[in-house]
Amino acid sequence: MGETAASQRNKERTTVTVNPAPLVTLANGVKMPQLGLGTWPMNDAEAAVTVADALRIGYRLIDTAENYENERGVGEGIRKSGVSRDEVFVTTKFNRKWHGVEGARAACLASLERLGLDYIDLLLIHWPNPDQDRYVDAYAGLERLLADGLVRAIGTSNFKPAHLQRLFDQGMVPHLNQIQLDPYHRRDDLVAIHRARGIVTESWRPLGAGNDMLADPVIGGIAERHGRTPAQVVLRWQVQQGFVTAPKSSNPTRLAQNLDVFGFALSDADMAALDGLDRPDPTMFDADSFGH
Ligand code: A2P
Repeated sequence: MGETAASQRNKERTTVTVNPAPLVTLANGVKMPQLGLGTWPMNDAEAAVTVADALRIGYRLIDTAENYENERGVGEGIRKSGVSRDEVFVTTKFNRKWHGVEGARAACLASLERLGLDYIDLLLIHWPNPDQDRYVDAYAGLERLLADGLVRAIGTSNFKPAHLQRLFDQGMVPHLNQIQLDPYHRRDDLVAIHRARGIVTESWRPLGAGNDMLADPVIGGIAERHGRTPAQVVLRWQVQQGFVTAPKSSNPTRLAQNLDVFGFALSDADMAALDGLDRPDPTMFDADSFGH
């Protein structure tokens, strides 16, 4: 009986499928899906269920981090999904204590063990932590992991222009920089640098954590005109600019909705209206003083 109920529930969870996201090409030729699943703040148990759901629906990019403490669940979800490993693009990130050449290797091996994988698609330095001034060494460690084939692509997260410049000065150019970015936080300074250097921009918290931004009347008006939800408009605004994004949802309906943003386009006027929502945010994390 229990088994029947479980398989029935499983069937219900997986009836909707969405076309996979298009791929973007990183500077080293590796291709990654343009939209994926963010897994913060899922625990292992929730990540195992939601990652499997997401992959069955059509997601092919999963974003996790050492700091989320859910890499074991992410790995379990990948195995449970029935989708083969080589069809899934897995991103993870490591914490400040690993900043260094050997540290990056130890962090990578620990993530591989927790994920139950033998390579990581994209490994990122989670925060620059300029107070300890070790992120250039951490990046040198990433370059070695890339050369050794333990990771397919490497990059940074939450790096500001000055942190990127330190890497550029050493001839280091990340494949991707993952930053907080949404219509309220446009991050034009960073996006311009990324474009000039061939760095892919990926957004975290793309839906503003599902808070007030999704109730913004400008976003709501555009959503209504397109017969879409505010979340789809915000995600479309991101992918239409070429950004990679990884919204979090644990709800199968919203998971499907969030991936389904490649079948409509925003007009130039819609894009300009969304661009106009940018505003200062004094509560935003500052990577010069915050990091783990
Ligand atoms: P839930 O997991 O219940 O769907 P972000 O990726 O910006 O951090 O946002 C994640 C938050 O937004 C979560 O609270 C999530 O809740 C919510 N969310 C995700 N997708 C949608 C959606 N399509 N519409 C409304 N809220 C959403």
